[in-house]
Amino acid sequence: MEKNVCKAPFVQEVCKITANMYRMGWDERNGGNISYLLTEAEVAPWLDLSKVIRVIPADFDASPLAGKLFIVTGTGKYFKNVADDPENNLGIIRVAADGRNLELLWGYADGGRPTSELPAHFRTHIVRLGRDPAHRVVIHTHATNVVAMTFVHSLVERDFTRTLWQMCTECMVVFPDGVGVLPWMLCGNDEIGIATAEKMKEFRLVVWAHHGIFGTGHSIDEAFGLIETVEKAAEIYVKIMHMPILQTIRDEELKILADAFGVTPRAGWLNV
Ligand code: 13P
Ligand code: ZN
Repeated sequence: MEKNVCKAPFVQEVCKITANMYRMGWDERNGGNISYLLTEAEVAPWLDLSKVIRVIPADFDASPLAGKLFIVTGTGKYFKNVADDPENNLGIIRVAADGRNLELLWGYADGGRPTSELPAHFRTHIVRLGRDPAHRVVIHTHATNVVAMTFVHSLVERDFTRTLWQMCTECMVVFPDGVGVLPWMLCGNDEIGIATAEKMKEFRLVVWAHHGIFGTGHSIDEAFGLIETVEKAAEIYVKIMHMPILQTIRDEELKILADAFGVTPRAGWLNV
């Protein structure tokens, strides 16, 4: 007999993080989406992997992910509601052999489908897996202060990252590789997916100006931790930007920090 998938650790993890992110105020209405690569060994105890409930067409070529399993938030679904009703708000999908279809194994019970940002998620998974075989998670959210910062700060990646690094000591340690930035673009399509994935060749974090941020990682904790660190730095920036700045963390100090924690700042981004 199949067990209740809602109790599976990976479903519970997504329930907890969506509730948490809602409480952070980043995921108003249906804002934000998550995709999490699962192994067959993780899913098999909970689901019959040969039972496809529904086939959902993908509007882009996901063939490099053929056969891979993901749990993905549904389009139009509210993070606020996920924990109380995982089966309607989440889905477990397998990318079909042709890469053009998604096999629904569980979830989207009310006839739903995966997030409209699936091209950005899947194209990011393809790129990040190519860089790091342990990669598993993509999180998109409307982190409030990051979005605010994109109105009042240069969107040049080096400038944007340097300001974040200067806002709190932990930033250099957490994201020495910096933050990619895309200008405002129409969302929910393959074009922004392609642009995001291009940035993901170099960055684990990509800001969408006036919209939100994408974070990636080996785990939900890692992807979320990257985003919350950037958001914290952006919050400090928007709190202090209109006041006279008397001192900051100097580049020599950022270098000392990087050396002490054994991380390498993106080449050429410190003036030392
Ligand atoms: P979905 O409801 O399709 O996941 O879209 C939410 C969002 O944040 C769009 O960028
Ligand atoms: Zn969004």
